[in-house]
Amino acid sequence: MQTFREIDELRAGMTALRAGGERIALVPTMGALHAGHMALVAEARRRAAHVVVSIFVNPTQFAPNEDFDAYPRREASDAALLRENGVSALWAPGVTVMYPQGFASSIHVGGVTEGLDGAARPGHFEGVATVVAKLFGQVKPDVACFGEKDYQQLAMIRRMATDLDMGIEIVGVPTEREADGLALSSRNAYLSADERARAVALPRALGAAAKAIEAGAAVDATLADARAALITAGFGSVDYVALCDADSLAPVTRLERPARLLAAARIGATRLIDNIPVGAGLAS
Ligand code: PAF
Repeated sequence: MQTFREIDELRAGMTALRAGGERIALVPTMGALHAGHMALVAEARRRAAHVVVSIFVNPTQFAPNEDFDAYPRREASDAALLRENGVSALWAPGVTVMYPQGFASSIHVGGVTEGLDGAARPGHFEGVATVVAKLFGQVKPDVACFGEKDYQQLAMIRRMATDLDMGIEIVGVPTEREADGLALSSRNAYLSADERARAVALPRALGAAAKAIEAGAAVDATLADARAALITAGFGSVDYVALCDADSLAPVTRLERPARLLAAARIGATRLIDNIPVGAGLAS
């Protein structure tokens, strides 16, 4: 596995990989890799001869009060894991390579970014869209894999790739979970033992709400019950528990087509997100 840190080196490396006419898949990450990322790598390997993984903790998607400085960084062990998993190249640029002096562009994707994390984290999705567009422009992959764990991010990237004619296939990969159901996340490393034990309330509340809504329970009351269950379990605050259309992410008040149940809540200092499908068997 080659590691690139400068754009010129990356471009030469990508030209060499593409020389045999083979496909390149990109897996963008912020490092602190876990089994969820490895599921993205495995999917990328099924879809392309060469897999490129980027590791870049992108400052522009963190608000000043968020965890940019504390975000776990462990490139050496990440690189070893990627090598073991058949990755062809690691793209690990520094902040000044990605945002040189004078950088002044930003991509705003409307629609799907308007509620949920778009409302709770102003500027976050502009930061993600801009860095992902840059990664796409740098690596020029045929296909890129993203986790369904960040479902709104995935919807936004699909929209951006379509709207901007990027010609890149965007693949969503189902969320990997711990045995008790907690979604894998680099941020789980922040949880104390007690918080980790309580955090399982998040997938449980989503699972119970999805089951109730699929059985015909009123959506608003069910979402309120899920919020209350999180607070009872020890979450300090709930940003949202929302039922949304699976494609447009518009709020849903009656289950008539495939929907997604999404939640964001804080336990101690850690903000966790999760989501699951609801009514997946309904006609879309
Ligand atoms: O999902 C992530 O890890 C990040 O938001 C991404 C897509 C790598 C952009 O920084």
